[in-house]
Amino acid sequence: MERTLSIVKPDGVKENAIGEVIKRFEQKGMRIAALKMLRMSKDDAKGFYIVHKERPFYDSLTAFMSEGPIVVMVVEGDNAIVKVREIMGATNPKDAAPGTIRADLASDIEHNIVHGSDSKESASYEIPYFFSALEIC
Ligand code: RTP
Ligand code: MG
Repeated sequence: MERTLSIVKPDGVKENAIGEVIKRFEQKGMRIAALKMLRMSKDDAKGFYIVHKERPFYDSLTAFMSEGPIVVMVVEGDNAIVKVREIMGATNPKDAAPGTIRADLASDIEHNIVHGSDSKESASYEIPYFFSALEIC
């Protein structure tokens, strides 16, 4: 059993895709272990994506991630980190396999609807970024 952090990004919330994202995770056997909606400040987003601080897209990514509410969730299941990323599809929706969330719903490489931790190390930074132990069921 493994846990990963997933986010319905501001574009996903705006497009009423919260339920669609959760449905796809659940239909593939994942369990939602924690869930909430919040809005990050620019600094919150900068801290969350600190690994990308040297990237050219860091400023626009953190502006986008703080432009509106997001839904953060802990997703649990066998091989959850890899499985959630498979359900999400490639970063750029143009490269995402048909049937993935990003292929079906995302508009471009930055506005790509959903986030998922990319490794055990990122999951163990990202889960406690949003949730205390008591909030994970
Ligand atoms: P995420 O962290 O959000 O799950 O996405 P990812 O692993 O598939 O992609 P990553 O390389 O970690 O990039 C994080 C987010 O930054 C935006 N991005 N923009 N303009 C660009 O070239 C560019 N590249 C990445 C996307 O929102 C991406 O999901
Ligand atoms: Mg990433």
